[in-house]
Amino acid sequence: MNIILLGPPGAGKGTQARIIEKGRGLVQLSTGDMLRAAVAAGSEVGLKAKAVMESGGLVSDEIVIGIISDRIDEPDCASGFILDGFPRTLPQAAALEDLLASKGKSLNCVIEMRVDDDKLVERITGRYTCGACGEGYHDKFRVPKVEGVCDNCGANDFKRRADDNEETLRSRLLAYYKETSPLIGYYFAKDNLVSIDGMADMSGVTGSIEAILNDKA
Ligand code: AP5
Ligand code: MG
Repeated sequence: MNIILLGPPGAGKGTQARIIEKGRGLVQLSTGDMLRAAVAAGSEVGLKAKAVMESGGLVSDEIVIGIISDRIDEPDCASGFILDGFPRTLPQAAALEDLLASKGKSLNCVIEMRVDDDKLVERITGRYTCGACGEGYHDKFRVPKVEGVCDNCGANDFKRRADDNEETLRSRLLAYYKETSPLIGYYFAKDNLVSIDGMADMSGVTGSIEAILNDKA
């Protein structure tokens, strides 16, 4: 099964993708995570992406399409994947369609996660992750069971993203409404869209996604 999680920054795409990955054996493909890894590694792609990501803009279609095309070819993606943060523009959506067709794959559904803007600010400004395993946390909505220790891997090295501040979030939101939100209409017209309430608590949102995936299976 191949699905897209579509939604603004802070909608919960990464949180839910990690839960589905564990529960269903689908692979999370987050272009944001891949780009951050490229920036950290100082690769050619990372050097091109760094300033754009820090400003809250979108990295070029060419770069992200190339990254996804290569990643989908890897063997672990054969049994299915969750696209988290891709596609983000109409040209990326068109390229994805061509890519999947050329590899004999298709999309099962696109899940739009709807969250109010003021809630997005609250979620983004309180977010942090485990630097060792990437598990996601929040100052208010998900704190580790033992303070300072990751529930998932036991590490004690937490990180906050450079773009997780209110000013950069506003640029990211602008990019979402200008470039990405047209994809909601695009996938609705293709009869591939299911919208869910992303305002519920994490387990409530997981329940909505599971119901959709069970229905499509
Ligand atoms: P990316 O990393 O994809 O960031 P984003 O889209 O801005 O999304 P986020 O990761 O901020 O939000 P999320 O929906 O994953 O929320 P999360 O689950 O963490 O992209 C970063 C940058 O890379 C972009 O700005 C761009 O420059 C570039 N880029 C990436 N892909 C690109 C592409 N395709 N094209 C061009 N450029 C690209 O949740 C947030 C917080 O809320 C967490 O703390 C979590 O614990 C908490 N939370 C989650 N769900 C709930 C809930 N239900 N209730 C309460 N709290 C919750
Ligand atoms: Mg994310």
